Amino acid sequence: MGRTHRIGVVGLGYISRVYLETLAAAPDAEITAVADLDRARAEAVAAELPSARALSVADLLASEDVDVVLNLTIPAAHADIALAAIAQGKDVYGEKPLAATYADAEAVVDAARAAGVRLGCAPDTVLGTGIQTARAFIDGGEIGRPLAATAVMASPGHERWHPNPDFYYQPGGGPLLDMGPYYVTALVQLLGPVTWAIGATSRLRPERVIAQGPRAGEVVPVAVDSHVTGILQHASGALSTITTSFDTVASTAPPIEVHGEAASLIVPDPNNFDGEVSVRRLGSDEWQLVRPLAGIAGAARGTGLLDLVRNADGGAAPRASGDMGLHVLEVMTGLLESASTGSRVEIRTSPERPSLVPLA
Ligand SMILES: NC(=O)c1ccc[n+]([C@@H]2O[C@H](COP(=O)([O-])OP(=O)(O)OC[C@H]3O[C@@H](n4cnc5c(N)ncnc54)[C@H](O)[C@@H]3O)[C@@H](O)[C@H]2O)c1
Repeated sequence: MGRTHRIGVVGLGYISRVYLETLAAAPDAEITAVADLDRARAEAVAAELPSARALSVADLLASEDVDVVLNLTIPAAHADIALAAIAQGKDVYGEKPLAATYADAEAVVDAARAAGVRLGCAPDTVLGTGIQTARAFIDGGEIGRPLAATAVMASPGHERWHPNPDFYYQPGGGPLLDMGPYYVTALVQLLGPVTWAIGATSRLRPERVIAQGPRAGEVVPVAVDSHVTGILQHASGALSTITTSFDTVASTAPPIEVHGEAASLIVPDPNNFDGEVSVRRLGSDEWQLVRPLAGIAGAARGTGLLDLVRNADGGAAPRASGDMGLHVLEVMTGLLESASTGSRVEIRTSPERPSLVPLA
């Protein structure tokens, strides 16, 4: 076992719970400090974690016993917190998207590179057995040359379950920037980087009503389009069609399908780590399950952060990397830009696909 990685967590809202559980179960990680704009949240989390102190954000970022900052704030704050952490020489792993705008995300990646610190970005769900098995199957030539993929995230909107859904309907939110990272990252894992994007969008309603929690019944304004659809071309020539929507009552479409010249593949929900991969070969009339071939079984959010800190010891790049986060954000903002201009948008970044995750 290597050294203990000392982690400071900024942002202690809804998603922080699962990260705290993952890190508590990791023998080589220790949360030494926690911070939130809401000091009471930090105090409450620190009270449950003997290893952690509740600090102000500035004190946490300057703290000598923090090696890595885990940034779980809302998208509008991602870049500011990441840049401040990098300025203190800390490695950073953050929730998606990398930043609310492409320019901010590029500034974060550039700053991390200049400072020589490691930068990681969610989603890490693609390191689970679902996406990794599909990727191993495709890489192994089992579906022949990959030609096309479809990705569908269709939901009626997060205000139905999230107690504070405001940010999902503000710039930096919307179905694509919120849920698209899972689908676009999975498509890049499966088919390689994207070279251009064409998008179109629409908006069902100018406001949403919070369905649950202490603010139930409160109206939230909608400042972004809530249905986003588009076409992506991968460097390989394969074409992906993507739909992300907060305007859809229900759907039976598989989360992702990949079509090759010899077979079609159903790929499980990239918002989860696990799930079944099925194949239908040309000439066969039934779908067959593909046994797990790669990926971490039973993983949970925080796996990408552990991959970053553990790889750091051996000098390897993180798999859920800032470079991937930047590419995915460029693709997503490219779709939105294309929707507003009516033109195809060329994608400049082209990250290497991270190495396959061995079955574990
Ligand atoms: N909710 C989910 O199911 C989910 C799933 C995966 C990823 N995410 C992502 O995780 C991130 C957080 O989402 P959430 O649902 O936990 O949101 P949330 O609103 O429940 O929590 C965010 C927390 O960050 C704090 N915060 C905001 N700005 C801050 C700042 N500048 N400094 C310090 N603290 C600050 C808030 O006080 C709050 O406690 C988002 O990027 C979201 O896209 C959420």
